[in-house]
Amino acid sequence: MAEVVSSVAPLVDESRQLKLLIDHVCDHAIYLLDPQGRICSWNRGGERVNGYTAAEAIGQHVSIFYSAEDQRLGLPQQTLDAARSQGRLVGEGWRVRRNGEQYRASIVIEAVREQGQLVGFVKVTQDITERYQAQRLLQDAQRARQHLQRFEGVGRLTRGLAHEFNNLLTTVGNALDLIALRPGADARTLDLVELAQAAADRGSLLTRQLLAFSADQTLVREPVGVPQMLDQALPSLQRACPPRVQLHLDVPATLPPIATDGVQLHSAVLNLVLNGCEAMPQGGTVTITARLEQRLAPDLAHPTHRRYVAIAVTDEGAGMPPDIAERASEPFFTTKEIGKGSGLGLSQVFGFVSQCDGFVDVQTAPGRGTTVRLLLPAIEEVDHA
Ligand SMILES: Nc1ncnc2c1ncn2[C@@H]1O[C@H](COP(=O)(O)OP(=O)(O)OP(=O)(O)O)[C@@H](O)[C@H]1O
Ligand SMILES: [Mg+2]
Repeated sequence: MAEVVSSVAPLVDESRQLKLLIDHVCDHAIYLLDPQGRICSWNRGGERVNGYTAAEAIGQHVSIFYSAEDQRLGLPQQTLDAARSQGRLVGEGWRVRRNGEQYRASIVIEAVREQGQLVGFVKVTQDITERYQAQRLLQDAQRARQHLQRFEGVGRLTRGLAHEFNNLLTTVGNALDLIALRPGADARTLDLVELAQAAADRGSLLTRQLLAFSADQTLVREPVGVPQMLDQALPSLQRACPPRVQLHLDVPATLPPIATDGVQLHSAVLNLVLNGCEAMPQGGTVTITARLEQRLAPDLAHPTHRRYVAIAVTDEGAGMPPDIAERASEPFFTTKEIGKGSGLGLSQVFGFVSQCDGFVDVQTAPGRGTTVRLLLPAIEEVDHA
């Protein structure tokens, strides 16, 4: 059989060998730059990485691969200056392809000298975007895991402390109630007792929030009459309000009962009243209403109408812009100064209401005040007739 004779010249020419070698490295862009940073030649990898054809790139300054911002900051020249003075520069950074897309580049720039004279630079660039992004994802996952571990530790500590404090505050609260009932106490003493009661109430609210946050809350769900519960809670809700805030209760005499934990419901309403007061530093009115509402139950495969007891707390305060409203129920999200708010108030409200199969509806807008409505399913009477 006749041998096929190739018409291609054998690889004897050294410069041709070199060209072929460099051209076949297609996942690295290899360029030769003149001492000013203009591109003199480049391999096929350059086209693949940067998106320019050789004809488009040759003669251009290497700064075409940098973003407008990096060009403005003088980064291309600084990079070349560093390579010139150090002889070699190894680094990483964001660069821009011809189509404007950004990519993460690993870069080596070598200054080329002949008889001590700088004749140009060899620059090798590799697109490492995928590797970079994978590393970032891994780092994010590791950070999230560490965060979670820290959180679990904090949760355990919080739970322990909150239980202890709850017991202590119950004793303090009971003692204050007894002092207030003792005959013969003067007005000043009663004022001080009231102040101490308000502080104890605030303290036990905080411990309940902490317990809710550390998921150590077992709801004792039993039928609760909302009008009666709110009537009973009114004195302590009023105590929580500063003098410049009026608390107004607008509740019908009867409503169907709801299956809930009365103590947690009290905390939820107190949290909302406090938020209302804090939103009105100049004073105003916080109104609590309770109504029976027919609402479409959310999160059901077959949406049905249900009867809810809607407890709404309305203030005339600053309201929330959408970005704050969106985050308001996140645990520890607060716009208050350090030490002024724990950011657990609304998380307790949302957590508790969803544990009761209800949902929360927030209406707010800057300058228009806020209404937070807790929708808790009414216990339906079974018709035995
Ligand atoms: N009625 C409201 N009016 C305006 N902004 C509100 C209102 N309720 C909540 N917010 C905003 O939502 C944030 C979170 O509220 P949340 O009750 O969870 O925590 P907090 O009030 O900051 O702290 P804490 O309740 O623990 O004292 C508040 O810092 C505030 O920015
Ligand atoms: Mg709050």
